[in-house]
Amino acid sequence: MSRSVKFSDKIKLVPDNDVHRSYSLPKRKLKFFFFLVLMTIIILFFCTSHRNVLPEKLTFFNESHSEQVFTDNENDTYIDYNISGEMSVKNSTKNILFWTRFFNNTDWYTGEEEAGEEVLKSVQCPVTNCFFTHNKELLDGDITKFDAIAFHGPEFRTKPLPTVRSPDQLYIFVSLESPTAVIDDLTKYKDFYNLTMTYRLDSDIEFDYGKVISIDTEKVIAPSKNPNWHDIDEDFYDEKLMEMFKKKKSNIAWFVSNCFTRSRRSILVKKMQNLTTVDIYGQCGPLKCKVDTQECLDMLTSDYKFYLSFENSLCKDYITEKIYRPLTQYVIPIVFNGGNTTLFAPPKSFINANDYDTVEDLVNYLEFLNNNPKEYIKYFWWKRYYYIKSHPVYQYTLCELCTKLNDETFMKSSHRYPDINAWYKNDMCDQNAHIKF
Ligand SMILES: *[C@@H]1O[C@H](CO)[C@@H](O)[C@H](O)[C@H]1NC(C)=O
Ligand SMILES: *[C@@H]1O[C@H](CO)[C@@H](O)[C@H](O)[C@H]1NC(C)=O
Ligand SMILES: *[C@@H]1O[C@H](CO)[C@@H](O)[C@H](O)[C@H]1NC(C)=O
Ligand SMILES: *[C@@H]1O[C@H](CO)[C@@H](O)[C@H](O)[C@H]1NC(C)=O
Ligand SMILES: *[C@@H]1O[C@H](CO)[C@@H](O)[C@H](O)[C@H]1NC(C)=O
Ligand SMILES: *[C@@H]1O[C@H](CO)[C@@H](O)[C@H](O)[C@H]1NC(C)=O
Ligand SMILES: *[C@@H]1O[C@H](CO)[C@@H](O)[C@H](O)[C@H]1NC(C)=O
Ligand SMILES: *[C@@H]1O[C@H](CO)[C@@H](O)[C@H](O)[C@H]1NC(C)=O
Repeated sequence: MSRSVKFSDKIKLVPDNDVHRSYSLPKRKLKFFFFLVLMTIIILFFCTSHRNVLPEKLTFFNESHSEQVFTDNENDTYIDYNISGEMSVKNSTKNILFWTRFFNNTDWYTGEEEAGEEVLKSVQCPVTNCFFTHNKELLDGDITKFDAIAFHGPEFRTKPLPTVRSPDQLYIFVSLESPTAVIDDLTKYKDFYNLTMTYRLDSDIEFDYGKVISIDTEKVIAPSKNPNWHDIDEDFYDEKLMEMFKKKKSNIAWFVSNCFTRSRRSILVKKMQNLTTVDIYGQCGPLKCKVDTQECLDMLTSDYKFYLSFENSLCKDYITEKIYRPLTQYVIPIVFNGGNTTLFAPPKSFINANDYDTVEDLVNYLEFLNNNPKEYIKYFWWKRYYYIKSHPVYQYTLCELCTKLNDETFMKSSHRYPDINAWYKNDMCDQNAHIKF
C-alpha cells in the first residue's frame, strides 16, 4: 500500500458519463420551481424561528424512561440518559482512541490530529457524533473513558498495552495487510479484541482499498459479500473508446515496489515477458513513474491496454488498490489474487489470470483482445453505471465504525474474539495458484 497518500488529498471523482446529470426545464416548469423554492424558504424560516422556544420532541428513546435530561438549547442532539441495570447509552460523542500508529501515521490518514464530524460528513455518514484521536491525554488522561480503542495489528509489536480497561470499551483489531505481512505473534492476544476492522468482508467493520459506487444512486455497491451488479451489456459499443484504443501504443504495464513476494508474482511476470511485452515501473524494473500521481495514471489510459493487478500474497478477500487504481482509468486490470474478484469489482471489468491453465492461454487471450478492439472495449461497459473511488477511502470505514457505536442493538450484544490469530491467519492464504507457471 502506498504510505505517502494523505486522506485529505482530493481524489478526482468525475464520473465517466455525465449524460445522466444534464437536464433542462421548460419555462413554465421553471416558474413553478421558483414558487416551490420560495415556499420552502418561508416554511423553513417559520420552523427555525420556533426551534429555540419549543423543546424538541425526542422520539429516539422510550418516553417511559424517567431519567431523560431535556436540554433546551442548540445542542439538542447531545442528550445523555441512564438506564439502570443496562449499559449506559449515550447519544453524545463517541470517543475513539488510535492506540498505535497506522503505517507510521499518528493521524491514521485522516489528515488531522483530531478528526470527527467533517470526515464523517464527507461521505454523507448518517451519524456524525464521533471523535477520533491518538492523544491519550484527552478525557482527563483516563483511557477507560474512550468508547473504543483501535490497534493496528501489523504495527503493534513494540507498543505497550493499555494497563486499564473498562468493561464497556471495545478493542478493535485493525489491519489492511494480508496475514503474511503481520509480523507480530497474534497468539498473544487471547480474549483481547472485541471487533475487527480489516479488508476481509467478514470483518465487523470493513476497511477497504476502494469503492465501486453507483452513478445513479451514489450508493456503494462493492466491496460486498453480495453485490447486486447490473447485467453486463453484451452489445456495448462506444466510438470514442474505439478511438482511444487505436492510440494505445503499449501493451502491459506493471507498477511494483516489492520484487520478491509469497505469491511468486514476479516469476509469473517473467514467464509472461517471454511471450509478450510487459513494461515494469518501480524498484523491480527499469522504468520510472510516480505511482498515484495523476500523470502516471493518465499514462495508463493513453498508452496501455492492460495493467497487472498482482497481489503480493494470495489470501481470502485480499484485493487491494492494485485493482482500483487501473479501474479509475481506461485500462484492463489483469488480476492475480486469492479472493473472489466479482465481490470487489464489476463482472467483465478485469481479466483473471487464475481463469487460465497456462501462461500461454492467458497471453493468447490478451492477443485476441488486441486484435479485436470491439471485444476489448466491452471491458468498460460498467463505466455507464459505476465509478470508482480508489484508496484511500478511510472516511467510509470511520463512518461504519461510528454507525456501529451508535447502534444500540449492536452495542448491547457481546463482541469477543477469543483467538484473533485463528480468525485472522488460519487457512486464509492459499499460495497455490490455478495458473501453472
Ligand atoms: C417502553 O418501555 C415500556 C416499559 O419499559 C414498555 O412496556 C414499552 O413497550 C416501551 N415502548 C416502546 C415504544 O418501546
Ligand atoms: C454544545 O456542545 C459542545 C460540544 O459538546 C459544547 O462544547 C458546548 O458547550 C455546548 N453548548 C451548549 C450551549 O451546551
Ligand atoms: C448515570 O447514573 C449514575 C448514578 O446515578 C451517575 O453517577 C452517572 O454519572 C450517570 N451517567 C450519565 C451519563 O448520566
Ligand atoms: C515514523 O515517523 C517518525 C516521526 O513521526 C519518524 O521519526 C520515523 O523515522 C518514521 N519511521 C519510519 C519507518 O518511517
Ligand atoms: C442521536 O440519535 C438519534 C436517533 O438515534 C439520531 O437521529 C441523531 O442523529 C443522533 N445524534 C447525533 C449527534 O448523532
Ligand atoms: C522462455 O522461452 C524459451 C523458449 O521457449 C525457454 O527456453 C525459456 O525457458 C523461457 N523462459 C522463461 C523464464 O520461461
Ligand atoms: C464469486 O461471487 C459470485 C457472486 O458475485 C458468486 O456467484 C460466485 O459463485 C463466487 N465464486 C466463487 C469461486 O466463490
Ligand atoms: C470485549 O472483550 C473482552 C475480552 O474478551 C470482554 O471481557 C468484554 O466483555 C468485551 N466487551 C464487550 C462490550 O463485548
